[in-house]
Amino acid sequence: MCGIVGYVGNENASGPVLNGLATLEYRGYDSAGLATIEPGLDHLGIYKAAGKLVNLRQVVDDAQPQGTTAIGHTRWATHGDPTTVNAHPHTTADQRLAVVHNGIIENHLEVAAMLREEHGITPVSDTDTEIIAHLIGTLYTGDLKEAVRQATQVLTGQYAIGVIHRDHPDTIVAAVNGAPMVIGTTDDVAVLCSDVAGLLPYTRHITAVPDGHMAMLTPGHMEIFDQDGAPATGHTYEVDWTAEEAEKGGYPSFMAKEIAEQPRAVRDTMTGRWDGTQVHIDEVSFDLSRLKTFDKIIIVACGTSHHAGLVARRAFEHWTRLSTEVEIASEFRYRDPIVNKATLVVAISQSGETADTIAAMQYAQDQGATTLGVTNMVGSTLARGADSVIITRAGREVAVASTKAFTTQIVALMVAALWIGQARGNLYVEEIQAVFDDLQSLPDAMETVLAQDAYIGSLATALVNRLTSQHGYVMFFGRLNGLPIALEGALKLKEISYLHAEGFASGEMKHGPIALIEPGVTVIAIATEGAVKTKVMSNIEQVKGRGAHVIAIVTEGDDDVRALADDVIVVPAAMELASPILAVIPVQMLALHVANALDRDVDQPRNLAKTVTVE
Ligand code: M6R
Repeated sequence: MCGIVGYVGNENASGPVLNGLATLEYRGYDSAGLATIEPGLDHLGIYKAAGKLVNLRQVVDDAQPQGTTAIGHTRWATHGDPTTVNAHPHTTADQRLAVVHNGIIENHLEVAAMLREEHGITPVSDTDTEIIAHLIGTLYTGDLKEAVRQATQVLTGQYAIGVIHRDHPDTIVAAVNGAPMVIGTTDDVAVLCSDVAGLLPYTRHITAVPDGHMAMLTPGHMEIFDQDGAPATGHTYEVDWTAEEAEKGGYPSFMAKEIAEQPRAVRDTMTGRWDGTQVHIDEVSFDLSRLKTFDKIIIVACGTSHHAGLVARRAFEHWTRLSTEVEIASEFRYRDPIVNKATLVVAISQSGETADTIAAMQYAQDQGATTLGVTNMVGSTLARGADSVIITRAGREVAVASTKAFTTQIVALMVAALWIGQARGNLYVEEIQAVFDDLQSLPDAMETVLAQDAYIGSLATALVNRLTSQHGYVMFFGRLNGLPIALEGALKLKEISYLHAEGFASGEMKHGPIALIEPGVTVIAIATEGAVKTKVMSNIEQVKGRGAHVIAIVTEGDDDVRALADDVIVVPAAMELASPILAVIPVQMLALHVANALDRDVDQPRNLAKTVTVE
């Protein structure tokens, strides 16, 4: 998360840097900041504001900086609250050196201890980034590039950093390890950015800084160096995107981009949640002993977030041993539910602004319940109102059809279930470690599903060709873990393709829905490994016997379902509670391909809005 921009050139740098930051707001927007090298000042100009970029624009408008070299940052808080003091850039105490940073410094506590003991430095913020500034400051003896290089030998973790120093008015030094940074130049300008979108006003000729390398930017020039400081080359390429396409990262739609981002989003959502002994969530405003007093959990949410709750119910019951109900938020408060101070209500909302979910949470609080919010939006109404919060780090989700929010919500909910289970004394450290070990393997497994895009596209084309005016619908079914994925698959498909699609518990088929089956109807069966796979296989046989065309989602190595279904989409094996995180990707991709084949506006489907702020 977080976005960084740097500009060194011949015009006032604050405008170009603010514009670059605007293209990066999807990476986080809980605070922003800018550092400039101001003519006539013996320290840097530092401008920061909590909240969105518009607040920083106001600060900069008021201050009117003049410098032609600047670095800027838009933040998604990982270390420390989203306050002005924690906003980047971070500086040395004399404010002559400033750093912007995207990533996480894993050894920041050790480095901070060394800086305190050996140099008497006490940080003013709660961030890992400020440590970088102080470290470079202690290593600086007149050669900024060398000081940054030496600092990179000390730091561990993932980072892309941009550094400026008052004594080097036309220079930005950058370093990269496991986080993106691209650079572009014109005759008299050099610009760096976390993604290509920020470079497009200048050039379409892009240089990516390789991992473990550094860069030095001066007006119209850039040089790349390896970790020994020797000259090296970056990865260069041309892009021909429009600005809008650049925001889409070259994908044809935001939905396609957001589906593809899921491995990264899931990885980010897990980062820092487990330190080997303790599960961590973002914010808790009550005494943790309260976690032992609950006798029931109720999950409230709408749409896709509700489906994430359905997936997570098993994890909550398994790890907390508390009875867990999942409610549609818009139904919840009207039926006089039994909620009291022994109830934990978990409210899930990507936007954190869905009116029904907020109202359900507030209703529960009025009854004395404790609330846990799960949201993608720091600072949203849900995040501010809940008694504790866990933030999904999906990054900005633009497409109306929710995809990466869903998979990150499941991960966040599993973390929450482990957190409560640990506090209640239900789980040994080894058990939690084993779950986190399993979760760590998910991003790579997700990549193997995403790699089947062309094949899933061909299944979608065939599905569209099977539709007739008599049966222009698609049925999804599954059981247990598979049921929420069947519901989610149907929601995705109807929402963006406008086809009628329904998800069913497959055991319920013979209680009514099987009457809809006739030759040629497509049934998508969620038939991954687990306690009920053989039951789902019987249900597949029943619809096959009546002429359905079955596309089954199966686990790698499965031959049983493969023998029954017409087509299969294979997902890697995973722990059963987390397997929906993999099984949902094919139904997202299938829905996207069907909608594209039908020429729908997948990002902005008719009649819908991304955030539903009315009842
Ligand atoms: O922002 P929220 O997670 O509260 O939104 C809930 C639903 O409106 C949302 O998931 C909706 O169902 C999606 N468009 C589904 O793709």
